[in-house]
Amino acid sequence: MKIAVVGASGFIGSRLVRKLRPEGHEVTTHDRSTGVDLLTGEGVPEALAGADTVVNTINAPGFDEPAVPFFRTTTETLLNAADQAGGGNVVLLSIVGIDQVPDVAYYRAKLEQERLLEAGPVPYTIVRAAQFMDFIEPITSWTSSGDTVRLPTTRLQPVAVEDLVDTLAEAATAPPRDGIVNIGGPDVFPLDELGRLTLRAHPDGREVTVDENAGLFGQVPQDAFIAPPGARLGTMSYERRLQHYA
Ligand SMILES: NC(=O)c1ccc[n+]([C@@H]2O[C@H](COP(=O)([O-])OP(=O)(O)OC[C@H]3O[C@@H](n4cnc5c(N)ncnc54)[C@H](OP(=O)(O)O)[C@@H]3O)[C@@H](O)[C@H]2O)c1
Repeated sequence: MKIAVVGASGFIGSRLVRKLRPEGHEVTTHDRSTGVDLLTGEGVPEALAGADTVVNTINAPGFDEPAVPFFRTTTETLLNAADQAGGGNVVLLSIVGIDQVPDVAYYRAKLEQERLLEAGPVPYTIVRAAQFMDFIEPITSWTSSGDTVRLPTTRLQPVAVEDLVDTLAEAATAPPRDGIVNIGGPDVFPLDELGRLTLRAHPDGREVTVDENAGLFGQVPQDAFIAPPGARLGTMSYERRLQHYA
């Protein structure tokens, strides 16, 4: 198959490309460094020409309000170009439970991205992933002050990048679902506990204390980001991932 990955230099996009190529697919890679800009539209029709599937793994520069016009414009641009190119399957990487967090601009923006796909002219598959395991360590630094890391007890189900990339690759090579596939990790943990596990594996003198209002996840309802019934579950556990990185 011919598969265009947009956001190909990113954390997930680059790993998806490395998964698909050895499987024999013709994969083209696109981001601003290759002259493809979904905000301005530059290079987009050429990037999508002849693709059976387009995978959108791009990300906004931040979590704040500008994420809303960013995801709106880039998604509209991609859908128009995919429609002009003759349809195919647009696969979007999204996030579990975002419909339950309307007060956070970034999640509202991702939800609008999904709604544009659902209302648009092109067959699609949305892959909603739980938080990446690799995202947990950076989260601990957002609300660190001195030796204290403040984290809420919001429950998360972090997924290993390998498990997510397998699911994305399957979505990219299967017929469009015109629906959502959810993928989470094998275990659910309160975020404060995830923080403690992480700091136990990589001790740096910091300790976790519970603060239900701390950071981005302090704004997320307790169970909003748990993968829903019927979700695929990855096999890599967070403890095993931490040992692997130790
Ligand atoms: N973090 C999590 O736990 C989590 C969980 C579930 C889902 N997600 C979703 O996963 C997606 C991918 O995340 P990631 O961490 O892989 O992102 P990332 O590493 O920041 O990569 C973003 C990619 O988008 C490209 N890009 C940015 N602006 C662009 C533009 N205007 N036109 C074309 N390409 C552009 C970047 O390349 P250039 O800058 O060179 O253009 C880069 O290749 C995001 O949409 C995120 O919402 C994240």
